[in-house]
Amino acid sequence: MHISRECAFVPVSFFLGEKTVFLYDQWYLAAWDDEIDQQPVQRWLLDTPVVFYRKEAGQVVAMEDRCPHRLVPLSMGERVGDNIRCVYHGAVFNPEGKCESLPGSTAQARCNGVRTFPIEERWGAIFIWMGEREKADAGLLPPAQLLRREGRRTVRGVLPCKADYQLCVDNLLDLSHEAYLHPHTIGTLEVAEIPVETKVDANKVTVARLMKNVEAPKLFAEAKGIDANIDRYQTVTAYLPSFVTVDVKATPVGEPDYDDPLEWQVLFFMTPERGDSTHYFFAVSRGFGLDSEPIDEALKAGALKTIHEDIEMLEAQQAMLETIPLQDRTLYTRYDVAPDRARIIVDKMASQEKEKEPT
Ligand code: FES
Ligand SMILES: [Fe+2]
Repeated sequence: MHISRECAFVPVSFFLGEKTVFLYDQWYLAAWDDEIDQQPVQRWLLDTPVVFYRKEAGQVVAMEDRCPHRLVPLSMGERVGDNIRCVYHGAVFNPEGKCESLPGSTAQARCNGVRTFPIEERWGAIFIWMGEREKADAGLLPPAQLLRREGRRTVRGVLPCKADYQLCVDNLLDLSHEAYLHPHTIGTLEVAEIPVETKVDANKVTVARLMKNVEAPKLFAEAKGIDANIDRYQTVTAYLPSFVTVDVKATPVGEPDYDDPLEWQVLFFMTPERGDSTHYFFAVSRGFGLDSEPIDEALKAGALKTIHEDIEMLEAQQAMLETIPLQDRTLYTRYDVAPDRARIIVDKMASQEKEKEPT
């Protein structure tokens, strides 16, 4: 479906609910591969505590981080071989969550074990499936191949954000804010002034703008030494509910086929932590300067500065949303179309997921 610019001011978000909507039958980025080793660690995902550790051969185990005996986090315990032992009374669970032993008791005979979660480790990232196990199909992973691909180089990170993941996705779908929130890295005034093309295709929302003959933002100069005007391309694609890519390209004015463009993709994984907090994973995958550590540093520093500015704003916005719901706002811009469409799609996906739940 194509949305024309004419409908840009329709306040579709009037229909939106105010509660965070979680979708479970999805792959979420749970951690970068170097965040998990053999030592158990806890991470909350979709309001659920999860303990992660690696087996001796390296595979990642993910299980609910609550001992079924007295609900103590298993992440406080220790790995024994490929199993994990609770710190409190020593119950041992295997990687499938089955209780292997409980010292001094026969209670394990009655123990249903601990819930475990399907994991896919791909492209240097660990993805988790929080929904129905039978539906966990690796073919449904988000299209994040640029995290690791021949001819690319990636810098990446993760930051905590005390805001709902949907606000984080809204923010990425309306980059007109770059002009005001990020003037020292990627923002120039044209980003707020040049209209966007918004497209909706099933569970994907795309927002594209082409800025012709504009000044290069500061980060472009730092990363590729650009000192003249450019044609700047920017395409944001949200694979709902929570994976967003921003494709960036800059070429000399009037040379769309220039063979050495500035080109990168920023990948954002807005993994819900709790209803009002998000694991803000990001990566920048570029196709130039593949051996350059100074470019790594410039891009990582630029990304971190920009994302810190976003998070500071998002957390302040979240605090306001605890006093007034989003649909009570009274001002709309044409750039609200994409985030509002995205929320409608997520609401629909959530009701479809609910309908399919076994009764
Ligand atoms: S709380 Fe884990 S064994 Fe008792
Ligand atoms: Fe931003």
